[in-house]
Amino acid sequence: MAMVDPTSRARRGVLAGACGIALLAAWPAFASGQARLQVWKSPTCGCCGDWIAHMRQAGFTVEVHDTGNAAARARLGLPARYGSCHTALIDGYVVEGHVPADDVARLLRERPKALGLAVPGMPIGSPGMDGPEYGGRKDPYDTLLVELDGGHRVFAAHR
Ligand code: CU
Ligand code: CU
Repeated sequence: MAMVDPTSRARRGVLAGACGIALLAAWPAFASGQARLQVWKSPTCGCCGDWIAHMRQAGFTVEVHDTGNAAARARLGLPARYGSCHTALIDGYVVEGHVPADDVARLLRERPKALGLAVPGMPIGSPGMDGPEYGGRKDPYDTLLVELDGGHRVFAAHR
């Protein structure tokens, strides 16, 4: 009998642990579902629309502003050297360009002290730049974490 109690307690521990892992696994989707992604873009930008579709497919709620993105980028304090075709804001973070949804989810999970993420330019093969017109071409690119002082480091390398 003395052996039964510790064993069942250990089993309950394992079960509690498994529940914790399940909660953690659900957290990114939960977080991205809660925070609204605001996007500023030109009304005629096709690849912007494709990126927005990618984000919606990943579970993000997106609000689109068809006003162009240069003014929004400047207002949000992102240096122009990180610029791309659209600028977004989610939960206090700037997201510039064709950043993969997984990187945004990881940002919201890890919550670093930073301005946000950027994929400068428009690398072919990044989400929204991967339509049939590119024939499956995938150029390597980095998602940058832009620091509060305007510097950056590589957040995710996509090769
Ligand atoms: Cu684009
Ligand atoms: Cu765009």
